[in-house]
Amino acid sequence: MADFIVNGRSVLCGEVDIHGAKNSALPILAATLLCNSKCTLYNCPELSDVDAALKILKYLGCKIHRQCDAVEIDPSNAFGKEIPDFLMREMRSSIVFLGAILAKCSNALLSYPGGCELGPRPIDIHLNSFKKMGVEVDERFGSINCQCCNGLCGATINLPFPSVGATENILLAAVTAKGTTKIHNAAREPEIIDLAAFLNSCGGKIQGAGDSVITVEGVAHLHGCEHSIIPDRIEAATYMAAAAATGGKILLKNVIPDHIEPVFYAFREAGCDMEIGENTIKLTAPKRLSRIKLIRTLVYPGFPTDAQAPIMTMCTVARGTSIFIETIFQNRYKHANELLRFGANIKVEGRVAVVEGTERLYATEAKATDLRGGAALVIAAMCAEGVSRITDIYHIDRGYQSMEKVLTKLGVDIKREV
Ligand code: UD1
Repeated sequence: MADFIVNGRSVLCGEVDIHGAKNSALPILAATLLCNSKCTLYNCPELSDVDAALKILKYLGCKIHRQCDAVEIDPSNAFGKEIPDFLMREMRSSIVFLGAILAKCSNALLSYPGGCELGPRPIDIHLNSFKKMGVEVDERFGSINCQCCNGLCGATINLPFPSVGATENILLAAVTAKGTTKIHNAAREPEIIDLAAFLNSCGGKIQGAGDSVITVEGVAHLHGCEHSIIPDRIEAATYMAAAAATGGKILLKNVIPDHIEPVFYAFREAGCDMEIGENTIKLTAPKRLSRIKLIRTLVYPGFPTDAQAPIMTMCTVARGTSIFIETIFQNRYKHANELLRFGANIKVEGRVAVVEGTERLYATEAKATDLRGGAALVIAAMCAEGVSRITDIYHIDRGYQSMEKVLTKLGVDIKREV
């Protein structure tokens, strides 16, 4: 397994081109299954989670051709209905293939994606929504067997929580279902809008994506299309946090500033200066950051839970005390324990974390516990005095394309040790 070795006290400076969004690419890759001809995706990030999704598509019978960030998927002979356990385990969000397989084949056999580093990750909202659309669900011994002998039927679905994955799964199931589906309390994340845009380019009839009520009029067929994945708002927020924590200056290119808006207040409160362009964000950090009074993670357009960990590292070196309330996931503070190794001062009590800023962090060995938590540790290592080792960086590779190359270009002394 690979580690990152980071020589600290770097000041991050320079420009970075933000890659395509992992969380858009994954459901859109699943959606290509529904088309009757070839699809080409551009700006598709090179990540291990994307590789895992491509492996699933291949297993189901798709032909794949990848050249850098362009991926061609030919699903015309993909009629696989089953995803084996070893592929389901490679990526937690593989559950989003369920809606697509059901829509294409009317039955599906998947193993349960299992618990996760962020706490239990139930899929009850997904399965209950499918039941409303006429699916019989049989959950036994860790596998999920779904059947809808008469095909999927449109339905009115009221989500108890605006789950991103469940909203995506319903869109995939509903786009070629018989009749109309209405999703109330739908997730409003930009990735939902991107998935709907892709499906509509393939001939789907989806209205309202980005609002809390989405209407899907089922169509008979979808054809292939060309689509460019939106930029990754969380990758952008992470590099902004890295620049802020190290007292640096960064110009992010290829971003949609509106998508990143929910984190702006945190950087402004910390004393960063920001210039927002059409597709760019320029952030200049002060010499020492100020505390951020309160960060409460919420569904979009609230503060994203995926940005919580990187921004927590910023607060460990800020002047004053910052408070975090994590409302989305039950167990999303594992990185806090690892940050303590750098000399950070953090107390966690259930869903609340209190971070008392310190002037200096010190190099250490720390273990990436999950994707965003791993990125938070790399930022801590960049701030720390001395040489740090971050282990288990396979978590980071799931969602950050060539992080060490991006950071080296920004002046950080970091290398991958295999
Ligand atoms: C997606 C993102 C992830 C992000 C999260 C919240 C992808 C690939 N991942 O994950 O990066 O952190 O949104 O913005 O897009 N829940 C249930 N039952 C369900 C489904 C969800 O109880 O059937 C709960 C979850 O346990 C969690 C909360 O709802 O506490 C949010 O989950 P959800 O919005 O579904 O997140 P994901 O789609 O898994």
